[in-house]
Amino acid sequence: MIANAEALLKPLTIKGLTIRNRVMSTSHAPGYGKDGKPQERYQLYHMEKAKGGIGLTMFGGSSSVAIDSPAAPWNQISVTDDSVIPYFQQFAERVHAHGAKLMIQLTHMGRRTKWDTENWLPTLSASVRREPASRTIPRAMDKHDIRRVVKAFADAARRCKEGGLDGCEISAAHGHLVDQFWSPSVNQRTDEYGGSLENRMRFGKEVLTAMREATGDDYVIGMRMSGDELIADGLNHEDCVAIATEYARAGLVDFLNVVGGQARDEMSHALSLPNMSFPVAPFLYLPSAIKREVDVAVFHAQRVTDLATGARAVAEGHVDMIAMTRAHIADPHLVKKLMEGRDDDIRQCVGAGYCIDRIYVGGDALCLQNAATGREATMPHVIPKAEVARKVVVVGAGPAGLEAARVCAERGHSVVLFEKEAVVGGQVNIAAKATWREALSGIPRWLYGQVQKKGVDIRLGRAATPEDIAAEAPDVVIMATGGVPNLGHAKGHEHAVSTWDILTGRVEPTGSVLLFDEIGGHNAASTAEALAKKGCLVEMVTHDVQIAQEVGTTNKPVHLRELYKLGVVMTPNTELIEIYPEGNRLIAALRNTMTEAEEERVVDRVVVDYGTLPVDALFEALRGASVNDGETDLDALIEGRAPRWTGQKGFALYRVGDAWTGRNIHAALYDSLRLCKDL
Ligand SMILES: Cc1cc2nc3c(=O)[nH]c(=O)nc-3n(C[C@H](O)[C@H](O)[C@H](O)COP(=O)(O)O)c2cc1C
Ligand code: SF4
Repeated sequence: MIANAEALLKPLTIKGLTIRNRVMSTSHAPGYGKDGKPQERYQLYHMEKAKGGIGLTMFGGSSSVAIDSPAAPWNQISVTDDSVIPYFQQFAERVHAHGAKLMIQLTHMGRRTKWDTENWLPTLSASVRREPASRTIPRAMDKHDIRRVVKAFADAARRCKEGGLDGCEISAAHGHLVDQFWSPSVNQRTDEYGGSLENRMRFGKEVLTAMREATGDDYVIGMRMSGDELIADGLNHEDCVAIATEYARAGLVDFLNVVGGQARDEMSHALSLPNMSFPVAPFLYLPSAIKREVDVAVFHAQRVTDLATGARAVAEGHVDMIAMTRAHIADPHLVKKLMEGRDDDIRQCVGAGYCIDRIYVGGDALCLQNAATGREATMPHVIPKAEVARKVVVVGAGPAGLEAARVCAERGHSVVLFEKEAVVGGQVNIAAKATWREALSGIPRWLYGQVQKKGVDIRLGRAATPEDIAAEAPDVVIMATGGVPNLGHAKGHEHAVSTWDILTGRVEPTGSVLLFDEIGGHNAASTAEALAKKGCLVEMVTHDVQIAQEVGTTNKPVHLRELYKLGVVMTPNTELIEIYPEGNRLIAALRNTMTEAEEERVVDRVVVDYGTLPVDALFEALRGASVNDGETDLDALIEGRAPRWTGQKGFALYRVGDAWTGRNIHAALYDSLRLCKDL
């Protein structure tokens, strides 16, 4: 067991509420709300964490208290009327049945939302200051607005109590309305709500006072706040300590949930939700400093990805509870595994940020490496045994193949896994070589550990042949042979090399490099960074409107920061039309996609990223001998039942991951999980 585990497993009592241990998940908005309510999908997602032993799970990130803070933009929860109460009651019953406590976050987003949705009302703030992230220009609140919003918070708190929730917090972090009043970066008022820190704290105090009056003194109410906004014109650490001390002293809060950052724009957003480029627990010093000054419980979440770090944070007295929010998205059974002495089985969050990045483009939160999260109604976190044990051959030990082998082995099937390389991991090994993305290697590492434990017959360094497969007399063959780089369709593309050639070190360019990116993902941006770090002069060209267009909110700023620092030239709206040699150099002909103007570059290397093409020779060779001619039963896959050939004499042949078509790690794992859970 990890050091200090006993500190994590000790109960915590706040007012009359006893939480069974010190591990929690902070409120987040996963985009699972339906009609503004936490319905089945939302409830099952949190219930899984309760089953997995968590002490406290907080749901409803940014739940709306008022009609001018719309819940619609990110499928959030509206607590603006009593119709939500029965959903809260059902939710609380589900979570309580498994011994965990349940709280919600209430907020008014102020300027940090959209006006062109739901009720089409103007956004509000302390002052007229546009927020770059949400792109809205708010209206400065008048006294009627202040009274109305204060009452709305109070009514929402009453609904939480009536709904059987164990408590609630207000969000005064990440640039929501309460901290918009606090922060000099937003609040320019000259009335009693602006100017001195005392005045700027007034609105938040009125909110909490009204919530207390609505719920009574015994109800647990807390506040999420920043310990330092980490922006030049914002609240500094001393301001935040002063706010925390004052609110705690006044008896307005029972806990403080402290983070770092403010999230008003791209870079500050990336700081608030640190990805794998950050060290573990980068902002633990902030709650720790506040805890020294207050006598209420202090919580914290920010890239605490492993229980040992969480246990140290509690044992050393930096916090009273440690939140491992994305860590629970990656593995909702963390605490149970710790208690059962199975900490090796914990699937650790790698900080890819896929979960959070999806919600900012209107998607739902999904984990890059755990396809069951958020799909609890259809995808199991614990794989059930099959009624009939089968013989399964999996070819390829990248993420898709490892997941297929893992799930089939959990089902009780006898599994042989072939991999032509000497190591498992496939393309992830290449991506993990890139600068700050090393942590990706945690994904195949965990899967490999699991398939070894489950007794999969792993044959590394063996490129499977049809004869090898026939010798196993399988019932099912799963092709997870991955892809190879596509060099694209520009004339003379044979003169280009791929991003893989660079990242693996097969090609080591010097001098000037033109890198053309048709995908807009991590791969090209990482390659440009790696090339520039090796001293190349790099121009990154894309036909998208910006570099790394596909990369999400918490990752793109990190790429861009590095590329700017390294002097990489970034040229959007431009396509590569031809490459041809001239002497010992190359000419890259480019065309602007807006003006159609053409120009040329003389460079030492052209590197391209057009994604991958499936490796399918073995699949095609086996197709004719299979009972299904290699066809996937799409209806069965989507409906969650066994493919129609299951049980027929002979073998059924399937393909998963990039061998099916080039996508991402999540898609590869989901292909395998949903196919194999029904085999
Ligand atoms: C999908 C997603 C949505 C989030 N939405 C909110 C939110 O609405 N309100 C909030 O205070 N924090 C939100 N967060 C931040 C988390 O509560 C937490 O602070 C963050 O994930 C850092 O903690 P971790 O490293 O343990 O995940 C969100 C996080 C994720 C992953
Ligand atoms: S997507 Fe990445 S950051 Fe999010 S939970 Fe999964 S591993 Fe962690």
